[in-house]
Formats: sequence, C-alpha cells, structure tokens
Amino acid sequence: MDIFLLLFGCVLVVACIGFELYFLYALFISKNCKYPPAFPSFGNMKKIALNEAEKILQNSNTPLKVVDLGSGTGGLLIPLARKFPQHQFIGYDWDFFVCQILKFRARHLSNLKVIRGDFLKADLSQYDLLLCFLDTQAAEDLSLKVQQEIKENARIISSAFELKGLNPTQIYDAKSYGMPLKVYVYDNRNNL
Ligand SMILES: C[S@@+](CC[C@H](N)C(=O)[O-])C[C@H]1O[C@@H](n2cnc3c(N)ncnc32)[C@H](O)[C@@H]1O
Repeated sequence: MDIFLLLFGCVLVVACIGFELYFLYALFISKNCKYPPAFPSFGNMKKIALNEAEKILQNSNTPLKVVDLGSGTGGLLIPLARKFPQHQFIGYDWDFFVCQILKFRARHLSNLKVIRGDFLKADLSQYDLLLCFLDTQAAEDLSLKVQQEIKENARIISSAFELKGLNPTQIYDAKSYGMPLKVYVYDNRNNL
C-alpha cells in the first residue's frame, strides 16, 4: 500500500513540475501574457463559429484555404477538416506543445497542416477563410494586419473579440456558461 502511495506522490510531483514548466514556457512565448494562452473554444461560441464556417465551406464549389490563427489543439480545425476533405486547413500557433498535440490529432487528415510560428508574421493574403479566438491585444494587432493583407473575397470569423476598425457583417450572441460572448463575422466582399 505504502509503495502505491509513494508512486502516486511521485507522479503528482512530476505532473506539477511539468505543469509549472509549461506555465513558464507559455508566459515566455506569449510575451508575458500580452497574447492569449492555449485555451480551446467552448460552448455556444464554438458551435456558432463552427456553424458559420460550415455554411461558407459547404456553399463553395472551389476548394478553399482556411487558417486558424492561434489554432491551439484544433478545437475548430479538426471537426472542419474531417467534415470537408475537399478544403485545405492550416493551423498556425507558436506554442510547440499544442502544435505537437494538433499534429498528432491530425495524423490521419491529409488536408490539415500545422505551422509553428507567429501568425503576425504570416502571409495572410493566401487564405479564403480566417478563424481566430484571441484577446484584446492580439485582435488589435491582427486587425491592422488583415486590413493590409487579406484577399478581396476573404472572410473572417472571430470568436469573443471584435477586430477593431473593421465592420462585421454579422454579430452573433454566443452566451456560453453565463458569459456574454459574441461571434463576429467579417466579409471582405462587402469591404472591411
Ligand atoms: C484561445 S487559444 C484558441 C485555440 C483555438 N483557435 C480554438 O478556438 O479552440 C489562442 C491560441 O493562440 C496562440 N497564439 C496567440 N498569439 C499568437 C501569435 N501571435 N502567433 C501564433 N499563435 C498565437 C496561443 O498559443 C493559443 O494556442
């Protein structure tokens, strides 16, 4: 009995140390929490974002290129890539660990590619549909970039945070677990 308690204690200590180290790593890459950590989409907000993306993807006769800017472990990309093999999906994230998890989850999906890096340095002009779930600072930085770069007919679905300076074509009430969240849809065909 004592040996099992000792083993359990050791596993717990190792897990806590691992978590602490990851926390420090996440703090470092997010430039001291200037940018959001890995936190998956959830509740109605996730349902609405997926639903909006599905409408766009199923109405397109040509293959589209979809990117999740800050893809985390693929809460949005995995279900979309499974459902729409004709479209191409790219997950962009700078967190080494979440990229490894996403790569593992996507190992049977030939239409999903993972890029580890800062999406603020990515070329956004190649994407037809851009997804994001960020925070105030990251959404502000991204707003400036999309206004300069994105395709003429590109669309953006932003969960929880408005992209400042852009005109949403739709704003959905996405209250989730008592939180007053929204999903913002932008369509560059109507000029951002
Ligand atoms: C709130 S999570 C969103 C996860 C996923 N998109 C979802 O909806 O489930 C935000 C992710 O953005 C990533 N991130 C934040 N700023 C970034 C940047 N400038 N470049 C790349 N990834 C970034 C974080 O590492 C984190 O995994």
